[in-house]
Amino acid sequence: MKITRLSLLSTIIACALLLCASSSALAQTGSQTDMTGYWKFSSPTSGLDYLQLKQTGEAVSTAGRRPLTGTLHAGKLHLASGTDANATTYDAVVKGEKFPATRITHDGPWGGTDTGTLERVTSEEVHPARLPLPDLRDLPDNGLVRTPPMGWNSWNKFHDRFDDATVRGMADAMVSSGMAKAGYTYIIVDEGWSSGRDANGKITGNARFPDMKALADYVHSKGLKIGIYSSPGPQVCGGYQGSYGHEEEDAQTFADWGYDYLKYDWCSAGGIYQSTWADLEGAYQKMGEALEKTRRPIVYSLCEYGAGDVWKWGAKSGGNLWRTTGDISDSWQSMQRIGFAQLDIANNAQAGHWNDPDMLEVGNGGMTADEYRTHFSLWAMLRAPLIAGNDLRTMTDETKSILTNPEIIAIDQDLEAKPVQLLSQEGTSEVLVRPLTGSAVAIGLFNRGDKPAEISFRWDSLHLGQGLGFGGMRGPTVRDLWKHEDIPTTGDTFTATVPPHGVVMIQTTSGRRR
Ligand code: GLA
Repeated sequence: MKITRLSLLSTIIACALLLCASSSALAQTGSQTDMTGYWKFSSPTSGLDYLQLKQTGEAVSTAGRRPLTGTLHAGKLHLASGTDANATTYDAVVKGEKFPATRITHDGPWGGTDTGTLERVTSEEVHPARLPLPDLRDLPDNGLVRTPPMGWNSWNKFHDRFDDATVRGMADAMVSSGMAKAGYTYIIVDEGWSSGRDANGKITGNARFPDMKALADYVHSKGLKIGIYSSPGPQVCGGYQGSYGHEEEDAQTFADWGYDYLKYDWCSAGGIYQSTWADLEGAYQKMGEALEKTRRPIVYSLCEYGAGDVWKWGAKSGGNLWRTTGDISDSWQSMQRIGFAQLDIANNAQAGHWNDPDMLEVGNGGMTADEYRTHFSLWAMLRAPLIAGNDLRTMTDETKSILTNPEIIAIDQDLEAKPVQLLSQEGTSEVLVRPLTGSAVAIGLFNRGDKPAEISFRWDSLHLGQGLGFGGMRGPTVRDLWKHEDIPTTGDTFTATVPPHGVVMIQTTSGRRR
């Protein structure tokens, strides 16, 4: 009895303490919510943002790497990443644990105002526990993309600021511009389409992508194929929903919707797994297995920026292509730094399994026409995927003529398996060669310098390229692949004047002519 009363008393005390604790967890200081803890900003049209807030008095700031500071004053929260016009800001009237909020970002042309919700979340949601990865094994080849895939992707031009109508417009333009005829097939929806999961855990499109199946049907009706984007992490890079812990389900959803291509981007998986070969391969194999299980032919595009020498194991995890570098940007510096650094790994590409030095920037406005011709020629010499990243609906004739140049595309799509090689380099001039089918050879004379350059090579130097069989050959007829004309040549040497940052691309009509 005594004991019972005592335990009753202690229960009452414990409850009182608990109430007190939970009301402080409910976190009222005076009448104000204490913002300390994890919060999620979500809106129907943008990705998620997780904020780890710390409040001291009225001062509120983010702990960790996102430097936002501000105040909670008279129930109004204001946070900013700085004081200049480019600061990211959050504003909300704080009411309990979930309330409307506005975020303004100035992310170049992609910035904007997002009205959404700020909601308290658990630290487990922000830092989910690591789930087991499969034992590593070699997945069978899915038989797709025997030549490098060709298509269009939304990211380079639009980032996540695009919608269903934009994608449909791009499919229309792919056909009407002649791109489809030139070989471009895949319309790829990059980051920005997903919102979250429904009550059954199924991934859903956001307000800008209300019906992902209908979109796929539309793209298919144009005779094209369609691609989608996700991540082995809980969120893709800009915060939209990823596939973590839902790999099989999402692969099946993508297959059910009719998608033909998945770009799978490491992003927040980096906060859960290690960036080691084993973890990377395991995480990519997990989705590779999930795709295989759907039995739908889905091109699998690995995007982890070349970590863990992906070109050595990407094919084993089911990958059809794998990014070999960080992100390209629409500038000469970025493009040429990436493009010319690919030669050492060129022999890792093989039919169905391609090195991907990132998508094309041709037509986005940051480079000259000569630079874009270099970009396109170099990607073709590398046998890189040709994924256009410009607005196909409004491209100029010049852009179109670059992207649809059939003779350069033929180099990219040639079936001969020998890799590109550096024939010679002198200062900023580089001559690249690649054997083609039927003993023909593609030769690119690249001028990486700022002034016009005379670039030459000796015909007999082509024997340096393994097994090219050019010993003693003189004066073959060559074709200029940008001028679209045959050029008769004489003598032991071929010489061209190449504009600054430009290229002369030629192809021998027959490699064995003597
Ligand atoms: C990464 C990828 C890009 C693009 C963005 C989207 O940076 O490398 O190609 O998909 O994510 O956030």
